[in-house]
Amino acid sequence: MIKDLWYKNAIIYSVQVESFMDANGDGIGDFEGLSRRLDYLAGLGVTCLWLMPFQQSPRRDHGYDISDYYQVDPRFGTLGDFVDFTHQAKQRGMRVMMDLVINHTSDQHPWFQQARRDPDSPYRDYYLWSDTKPRDAHLGVVFPGVQKTTWTRDPVAGKYYFHRFFEFQPDLNMANPAVLAEVRKIIGFYVELGVSGFRVDAVPFVISGEGSRSKPRTDWGLLRELRQFLQWRCGDAIMLAEANVLPKENVNYFGADGDRLQMMFNFWVNQHAFHAMASGDARELARALQETRERPDTAQWAHFLRNHDELDLGRLSEEQRAGVFAAMAPDPSMQLYGRGIRRRLAPMLQGDRRRIELAYSLLFTLPGTPVLRYGDELGMGDDLRLDQRDSVRTPMQWSTEPHAGFTRAARPVVPVVADGPYGFDQVNAAAQRRDPESLLNWTERIIRMRKEVPELGWGECAVLETGNDGVLALRYEWRNNTVVTIHNFLGEAIEIELKVGGDAGRSLTNLLSEASSEADARGRHHIILEPYGYRWYRAGGLGYLLERAAA
Ligand code: NOJ
Ligand code: CA
Repeated sequence: MIKDLWYKNAIIYSVQVESFMDANGDGIGDFEGLSRRLDYLAGLGVTCLWLMPFQQSPRRDHGYDISDYYQVDPRFGTLGDFVDFTHQAKQRGMRVMMDLVINHTSDQHPWFQQARRDPDSPYRDYYLWSDTKPRDAHLGVVFPGVQKTTWTRDPVAGKYYFHRFFEFQPDLNMANPAVLAEVRKIIGFYVELGVSGFRVDAVPFVISGEGSRSKPRTDWGLLRELRQFLQWRCGDAIMLAEANVLPKENVNYFGADGDRLQMMFNFWVNQHAFHAMASGDARELARALQETRERPDTAQWAHFLRNHDELDLGRLSEEQRAGVFAAMAPDPSMQLYGRGIRRRLAPMLQGDRRRIELAYSLLFTLPGTPVLRYGDELGMGDDLRLDQRDSVRTPMQWSTEPHAGFTRAARPVVPVVADGPYGFDQVNAAAQRRDPESLLNWTERIIRMRKEVPELGWGECAVLETGNDGVLALRYEWRNNTVVTIHNFLGEAIEIELKVGGDAGRSLTNLLSEASSEADARGRHHIILEPYGYRWYRAGGLGYLLERAAA
């Protein structure tokens, strides 16, 4: 087993160039601004940045509609600025990942423009066409309520084209070897420019044969091919799959031998974590963790709380989903696509610091690698007046200066959250820097501890009995070390009984505060947890570091 797989213990931070920092004062975030904020991110403890799409694009879906894969959107800077940024990140020991959007292009991409105009163009077969509107065209839309169909007639071609997402995002025909050659070239290009990996957009759709007449089956081999190519060009670069699928599908994405994609977002655990937070019942979350436990040695989960999209609850039962809506997004304006929530984390938890800490402590101790969303380290809020998912994409709140110090422009292109409890006068990085008890400084400290507990990223995880449905207790074992984490999802104080097992398990050293625990004569720990309380323990003393060094 390779011991230095960097992604097993990374701290990934997702950032949107557009909303982070505007250096040239035109109201739009840019690479120069992001570069200037790298010290802030390094200080927070981030080890890997994941950039949302920044390539040339009409940006009708925040850049997930690319019109030139090889150009930086001029609003964000130039390729020179991008390379300068990856270089500066590297100098601070930070890796850079980026979105790889290959399921579709923008309809403005020259490939599509030529394809629609000329039936004999080699680009015609880059996309998926039909002479008539397929009968199932209304099925399988990704954005119900906004998107009506997956087949739209192009008046220029006189044919219908397939689009899994919005109609301005025609799907690429992955069965065409020429398309795959283009994808390889894109991967190769960005690896040369300094990226360490890709968050692969919409993977289940990339490999689905739907829309294609010639290739109706799921093409799992494609994942191995992409992985192989990437790893040939750059040995330690990785792919992180966006695939919101059922647990039984996971092995197909990782590959039984870990020969496909190294990482996947754990959407299954994500939805059940929100269910636990909303209901105070951790049993389904414990089950979700067990259901996603199996994975090849080199594979890794990416865990997250909120991302740039809606919180998709589509995998919960009707009843569970209704419960999460009632607790966290009661107003219809907070919900989206009939299945999700378009709020940021802090407002969903009523700004309750105890619950926010519980949520983040949980994220940092789930079996895998945590992915944060910019601004969540401050407890930023959302703007529900904005359309669809734009509500959670407002500019980073740096200070109490005009527009939160995000831009010197009279008007930022995306408005800053300015009023109420989440307005930038209340929530901003500068003020939180000065306050030792702020959420920002708490997050910095917990990240620091997360890095000192590699068991969480590498270890074997098991659920421990606590005798209380509102509590999740996990035990991690790795290289003869044992770590135990406990989270109380209830708003009341409770006492739990816990058996860790093993000799070392008799004594639990608290990693976050002074209250350590000794087992009773029967080997049981009696631990009193405050409302929404959490604990990180190491079994035995802290001398393990010395032993490990000797091993
Ligand atoms: C998933 C992305 O997360 C989402 O923001 C985007 O709209 C779709 N893929 C289409 O690319
Ligand atoms: Ca700018």
